[in-house]
Amino acid sequence: MLRTRARHQIRPGADGAAGEQWPRRVLLLGGTSEIGLAILAAMQLPPGCEVVLAGRDQRRLAAAGENLPCTVVMQYYDATDLAAHVALADAVFSAGPVDLVIAAAGVLIGQDVLARDPAQAGLLVQTNLTGNVTAVLPIAERMRKQASGTIVVLSSAAAIRPRRANFVYGAAKAGLDAFGRGLADSLHGSGVRVLLVRPGFVVGRMTQGLNPAPMSTTPGRVGTAVARALAGRAHVVWVPPGLRPLSAGLRLIPRPLWRRLRR
Ligand SMILES: NC(=O)c1ccc[n+]([C@@H]2O[C@H](COP(=O)([O-])OP(=O)(O)OC[C@H]3O[C@@H](n4cnc5c(N)ncnc54)[C@H](OP(=O)(O)O)[C@@H]3O)[C@@H](O)[C@H]2O)c1
Repeated sequence: MLRTRARHQIRPGADGAAGEQWPRRVLLLGGTSEIGLAILAAMQLPPGCEVVLAGRDQRRLAAAGENLPCTVVMQYYDATDLAAHVALADAVFSAGPVDLVIAAAGVLIGQDVLARDPAQAGLLVQTNLTGNVTAVLPIAERMRKQASGTIVVLSSAAAIRPRRANFVYGAAKAGLDAFGRGLADSLHGSGVRVLLVRPGFVVGRMTQGLNPAPMSTTPGRVGTAVARALAGRAHVVWVPPGLRPLSAGLRLIPRPLWRRLRR
């Protein structure tokens, strides 16, 4: 792991609350993720914290760490290199306990591209689902042993019902969402918490060039909602919150109507 000292001043907690000391060590899987970084920006990270940014490109990871008020450590991580994920967990936990893990690696590829090139569909599923499963499972076991920790899983509102316009992405997120819920149940009583995040359309790098869907949001708003949820006891957070009742309604739309949706 490569260590860099953040150039910025350590930011103290706004109100000196007890939660100020948490989290001391954070792992962001997908260390350049706009949403992942927005979550960290929205949290009151305590003085002396350490953030491990895990990703593929050292230069972009270093740039991502520049504004963090913590010691930044860079860790190589490829979500599709499934066999490397136990060693990744070993490397991170050998340096000390981890309080918070944010699983934010993901890709969005157009359904038209996937229809022409199924290998891309495989890559999408591996990045969004399989790679998160193989990375998070060994992390969860290490957190179970330390009897503490929080795992944030970036699911999506797309997990709720597959749309013909992006059903491969929806299928991968549905799998990840189920994994997150099952993981939460399996960790119940262990001292480890799982927070499942279901954003709708987030205007940002991942959705560049796409027309924003109704109720679209921003990485900053997702970050604020997740930081607030982390301070409470929720197990699921929808962003924006109105997506929750909307999704319940969308589930009830008869299939002949649902399949007519263009997006
Ligand atoms: N944006 C949305 O509308 C939206 C909505 C709902 C849920 N989500 C989910 O939220 C999560 C974060 O999305 P975001 O908006 O922050 O997108 P983003 O800024 O594009 O971040 C995606 C992250 O995934 C990483 N990644 C992609 N392929 C990888 C691989 N093979 N190995 C390791 N890392 C890989 C990227 O790293 P590189 O820099 O190396 O590419 C980047 O750090 C994703 O899981 C996404 O599906 C997003």
